[in-house]
Amino acid sequence: MTPALELESLTKQYKTQRALDAVSLRIGAGEIFALLGPNGAGKTTLIGAVCGLVKKTSGTVRLFGVDLDVDGVTPRYSVGLVPQEINFDPFFTVRESLRIQQGYFGQRHDDARIDELLAALALTAKADTQTRALSGGMKRRLLIAKALVHRPKLVFLDEPTAGVDVELRRDLWSYVRRLREQGTTVVLTTHYLEEAEELADRVGIIDGGRLLLVEDKAALMRRMGERAWTVRFSAPVRALPDGVAGTLDDDGRALTFIERPGGPSGAEVLRSAYAAQLPVADLALRPAKLEDILVRVLNGQEADR
Ligand SMILES: Nc1ncnc2c1ncn2[C@@H]1O[C@H](COP(=O)(O)OP(=O)(O)OP(=O)(O)O)[C@@H](O)[C@H]1O
Ligand SMILES: [Mg+2]
Repeated sequence: MTPALELESLTKQYKTQRALDAVSLRIGAGEIFALLGPNGAGKTTLIGAVCGLVKKTSGTVRLFGVDLDVDGVTPRYSVGLVPQEINFDPFFTVRESLRIQQGYFGQRHDDARIDELLAALALTAKADTQTRALSGGMKRRLLIAKALVHRPKLVFLDEPTAGVDVELRRDLWSYVRRLREQGTTVVLTTHYLEEAEELADRVGIIDGGRLLLVEDKAALMRRMGERAWTVRFSAPVRALPDGVAGTLDDDGRALTFIERPGGPSGAEVLRSAYAAQLPVADLALRPAKLEDILVRVLNGQEADR
């Protein structure tokens, strides 16, 4: 199947800043791809180069198999963008601005589509409100509706849930999953790593304009995920007996153990603690987090692809 998006050696040089440095990437149709990286990494620039907001310096961008240097217009009709910055005319109502957006994409007014999106994004009650009278989170929800109103095949969500309340964020997640079920490709940037963990099929990590890693999320979590086990004791333990891995805390009340791929499992450590008759009272387990993996990759550890 033709990938939704292919970048080959995409480079963007601002005067003094190389925002994208030879980025090559393929995003398959129907996947949710999370592009992660610190402030200034190049995420918005990458999206801008695909959507026509940033002029690339060199390299190739293909959308649905079409090189944008050959046709920079037609394939972009199938793309939607939720921009990081809020950018609409404050004097239109919510419904008007969605109608205008349909017009931009050469589509007929389709109020049924607009109503469907307003309902999905909990904006129905605000349909006739001027956009300047929306709250910050509502504005962001309107941006999402605008990005989707023309039923794009590929959607970029650049920080879609910044400032969105917890409940709506979860609604949005299920909406994004529904989009994927309908075959829409989603590229997401977010600083909420929990969001990427929830949604992404694949993850890309970018820093300083360079793509450091691209990997299936589940595989990455298995490869680099570290679970932390804390075993609490009912009486202080002075020293760990041989064969019990981990670190004893200062007052001897707890043992922490980080489970790493290839090393002993937390369960083995727990069994050895029982076997050594340590006074095990309680166990806390912190699951592997994408956030920790991101930090480690950005610190230059294990970025081996
Ligand atoms: N118009 C511009 N002129 C000059 N430099 C720019 C311009 N736009 C972005 N940059 C620079 O390019 C780099 C990448 O910026 P970009 O906005 O792509 O980062 P980002 O990954 O989206 O960050 P954030 O997480 O903060 O949104 C930054 O160093 C930024 O200062
Ligand atoms: Mg950005």
